[in-house]
Amino acid sequence: MKIDLSNNSVLITGSTGGIGKALCHSFAKANAKVTLHFNKQKDTAKNLINSLPGDGHSLIQADLSNSNEIKDMVGSISDLNIVINNAALVEQIDINKMSYNDWMHYWRKTLDVNLLGPANLTFLCANRMKVNGGGKFINISSRGAFRGEPKAPAYGSSKSALNSFGQSMALALARDNIFFYTIAPGFVETDRVKNIINDEIRAQSPLNRVAKPEEVAQTALWLASSGNDFLTGSIIDVNGASYFR
Ligand SMILES: NC(=O)c1ccc[n+]([C@@H]2O[C@H](COP(=O)([O-])OP(=O)(O)OC[C@H]3O[C@@H](n4cnc5c(N)ncnc54)[C@H](OP(=O)(O)O)[C@@H]3O)[C@@H](O)[C@H]2O)c1
Repeated sequence: MKIDLSNNSVLITGSTGGIGKALCHSFAKANAKVTLHFNKQKDTAKNLINSLPGDGHSLIQADLSNSNEIKDMVGSISDLNIVINNAALVEQIDINKMSYNDWMHYWRKTLDVNLLGPANLTFLCANRMKVNGGGKFINISSRGAFRGEPKAPAYGSSKSALNSFGQSMALALARDNIFFYTIAPGFVETDRVKNIINDEIRAQSPLNRVAKPEEVAQTALWLASSGNDFLTGSIIDVNGASYFR
């Protein structure tokens, strides 16, 4: 099925990450105008935008833990009808080996980026979409929201909260023609995790592998295409049958 997103403008947060890059390529190939968000990796973002097919794409920087930077970012984007909340922070910790101060800092930092960032971005973008006839949000969650993340509890919790956030917004904003979809991948073969993916992890799936970033991107592209309004509030597992909930 060839998806054509001509006349659509998509903001992809965390475009410089493994899944972000695949999302940018998929949406650009489908003729969408892509705004590539990055935080620290400016050179990666520049290379990425130069590698995309089509034109009209743009780059934008913001630290998503900073609500003012989010506001400035949204204010500077001219067209916007699809937002992919993809950026996230994952830090591994050991609850048995850290101070209370480090613990508090770890939680605040993770929730600021992974939960408050998408919540603030959604508020501002949804207000724009309301006056422009509607739009779509695709939130990238994780299998860890359901399975638990003992070494990254704030990350797992932020993703559970993101699931609930998407469902709540689906209820709150459907009347404005604004739809919410959540994708919950298991492990995805990106630079960040490639060193920890081993045979045991691959064997969690009967396909004996982890997901490719393109498989997450393809799911997002399909959700963004027309005809999926009634899927609003859905959480789609992309985990190769490695975990059923
Ligand atoms: N990879 C997996 O196995 C996997 C599995 C399940 C779910 N996911 C989810 O899929 C999404 C993408 O994962 P990934 O592995 O592709 O990520 P990644 O390679 O680690 O990239 C993370 C992205 O988030 C951005 N980011 C981090 N902190 C930020 C901040 N404070 N403000 C703004 N942007 C910030 C980074 O921007 P800069 O680099 O420019 O700083 C980068 O673009 C995440 O939501 C993740 O939770 C991934």
